[in-house]
Amino acid sequence: MRVLFTGGSGKAGRHVVDYLVARGHRVLNVDQTLLDHPEVQTRIADVTDAGQMYDVMASYAGYDELEPGTGAPRFDAVVHFAAVPRLLMTSDNECYRVNTLGTYNVIDAAVKFGVKKIIFASSETTYGVCFADGERKPEYLPIDEVHPVVPEDSYAMSKVVNEVTARSFQRRSGFDIYGIRINNVIEPHEYETLFPAYIATPHMRRRNIFAYIDARDLGQLVDRCLAKDGLGFEIFNASNDEHSVERSTAELIAEFYQGVPVAAMGPEETFYSNKKAKALLGFNPEHSWRKYLPV
Ligand SMILES: NC(=O)c1ccc[n+]([C@@H]2O[C@H](COP(=O)([O-])OP(=O)(O)OC[C@H]3O[C@@H](n4cnc5c(N)ncnc54)[C@H](O)[C@@H]3O)[C@@H](O)[C@H]2O)c1
Repeated sequence: MRVLFTGGSGKAGRHVVDYLVARGHRVLNVDQTLLDHPEVQTRIADVTDAGQMYDVMASYAGYDELEPGTGAPRFDAVVHFAAVPRLLMTSDNECYRVNTLGTYNVIDAAVKFGVKKIIFASSETTYGVCFADGERKPEYLPIDEVHPVVPEDSYAMSKVVNEVTARSFQRRSGFDIYGIRINNVIEPHEYETLFPAYIATPHMRRRNIFAYIDARDLGQLVDRCLAKDGLGFEIFNASNDEHSVERSTAELIAEFYQGVPVAAMGPEETFYSNKKAKALLGFNPEHSWRKYLPV
């Protein structure tokens, strides 16, 4: 597919772009910084500027597309990752502004240009646990996509608003718009740099509900979203199959989730359910931390 990808120069985006290119997709990256990738051009543009988003939506993806002399082809899909990716990076209101306005502009331009598949990055933080002031426990475990989303910080609020925005655009257009509630993204090199501390101090992972998603597996999930048509508006949790710490489900419940209703779970099954993505998209995460960090 011919894919317009926003935020492809970032931590998650660069791995997802790489995965998509390896799967044969043609990608144009839209970002404020360049992506160093031999097969992907970057258009420097600001997602909060509607004019720039309309422009890129009708853009060539590279000089080679000038050759046929038939004008810029239409994108088959838009993947929107560009954002302020957490709180405490900008002012709270700037984070909210960039994320909500950027998402509105990207989806608005995509729908008006007839792009019938739109995938956007939402977040685990929507569930309200990650950036809570103090400790807030899930209402039940494992957390699936119907768990309430009532966060209290501007970043997560922006992601909840983006889901509402996307749902409304889907209702009018009838196009496929899928949101991915991404858990903590782990790059390949981070198993070595981060996981020893997670194993030694499981408490560090409480705000992520002890879950994670390998950046390459996130690429697989986006690719599965591109391949799956006809779902309308859907939200998918993105996580790997098991916890990011070397503790069993039962041990973690005993230490961290006393009093929280828990459904039947496997001995090492993630508390951040990926069952919907598996069932509807055929998602099958391949990169467990245990492959990269023998314990
Ligand atoms: N990293 C995680 O663990 C995680 C978890 C959940 C959700 N997410 C979401 O996934 C997406 C990617 O996150 P990331 O960790 O790669 O973040 P990142 O900051 O590494 O990448 C975001 C990219 O967006 C670009 N960008 C920011 N503002 C822009 C603007 N106004 N116009 C154009 N480009 C702009 C940045 O230059 C950057 O390259 C974000 O939407 C984030 O909220 C990330």
